[in-house]
Amino acid sequence: MAFTGKRILLGVSGGIAAYKAAELARRLVSGGAAVKVVMTRAAQEFVTPLTFQALTGEEVATTMFGPGSEPLEHVALGQKVDALVLAPATANLLGKMAAGIGDDLLTTILLAATKPILVCPAMNCEMWANPAVQENVARLRDRGLTVLQPEAGELACGAVGYGRLPEPETILEALAKLVTPQDLAGRRILVTAGPTHEDMDPVRFLTNRSSGKQGYALAKVAWRRGAEVCLISGPSHLPAPQGVERLEVRSAREMLDAVLARFPQTEALLMAAAVGDYHPTSRAEHKIKRGSQELTVHLTQNPDILKEVAALKKRQVVVGFAAETRDLEATARRKLEDKGLDLIVANQVNRPDSGFAVDTNEVAIIGRKNLLVRLPLLSKEEVAAKVLDQVVALLPTRQGGKSA
Ligand code: CTP
Repeated sequence: MAFTGKRILLGVSGGIAAYKAAELARRLVSGGAAVKVVMTRAAQEFVTPLTFQALTGEEVATTMFGPGSEPLEHVALGQKVDALVLAPATANLLGKMAAGIGDDLLTTILLAATKPILVCPAMNCEMWANPAVQENVARLRDRGLTVLQPEAGELACGAVGYGRLPEPETILEALAKLVTPQDLAGRRILVTAGPTHEDMDPVRFLTNRSSGKQGYALAKVAWRRGAEVCLISGPSHLPAPQGVERLEVRSAREMLDAVLARFPQTEALLMAAAVGDYHPTSRAEHKIKRGSQELTVHLTQNPDILKEVAALKKRQVVVGFAAETRDLEATARRKLEDKGLDLIVANQVNRPDSGFAVDTNEVAIIGRKNLLVRLPLLSKEEVAAKVLDQVVALLPTRQGGKSA
């Protein structure tokens, strides 16, 4: 989980979207975070502190003085956490932050905070468009704060435009990045994912059981760790991971062209796609009609993308995936040699909890010089993190800097 062992301060200010902060608090807790909620006075007009207390299991801080407040809390709270997230951040809160005003507990905490701050504005669309608000946002960004763009849609006031609080998923991903060490900062990573579709006629195609989950998890985790990620995806129902450039392809041939176009600018290629090994030799122009008892389809071999690309490799780290049902490690090591790879992730795919379409995977990472890392059953995001650890270790150091 992205927030295991992390302590997050959730600041809630007084807008109608305050009710959505309750869902955010719940999702953070279920993602492993310890969450301390601080509410402004106006926020308490929309939601009660009890809601957040019940969701986080922690006392909610609301005031600098009086019962329930602790001395010097306003300094300590923003320093003892791993990150702060303000959701929703009202126009008023943005204004106070930009001007350096601390006239209540939350704004005072923000003045003393030393940890990364994620600001999630939500307000009426005209308010958001107001030049004063836009100037405040620009000032906060200049100071290094991450300010999310509100989403477009119908607002509580009935207007339609930019002003909605971003979806919890968007906020959680941006926050996950802020609490994750940036050991892939600025690195250009290319990931392939999903199956390929090899057309037989206008309505039928050959494919495999890949869902794209492992490749998408790699792209997501690489972005969180600071990489510039391009994801070349075969047909998949998964949403594009945040911050990642996704190129959609269909056949192995299209995937090869896309990989070849991007490979020269790439520092590491992770080829998680389950590329079809064959395509129908001819694609019928019209739907093939039911005819005789038997139908023979001739297949022609597809190019081996990894092999072609690995032959062009200069300083890039090239990682393959081996989906196997038996002799896992021996077969994977053979593929590592044969395809000229730096690493191969050997994936047991004939178990119900590992391989295609599920959220968990059991893999071994195999590399040169007898590298063998056997991993237990993990989530696909955890597998992605372990694979990326090995990639980081192999990336050539940048001129004048360290590898990270
Ligand atoms: N791969 C590829 N191009 C292909 C087939 C596979 O680039 N035409 C890549 C996959 O993305 C994966 C690796 O090769 O990273 C291993 O794929 P796998 O299907 O296990 O290996 P194959 O070489 O196709 O061997 P086989 O199907 O015979 O097991």
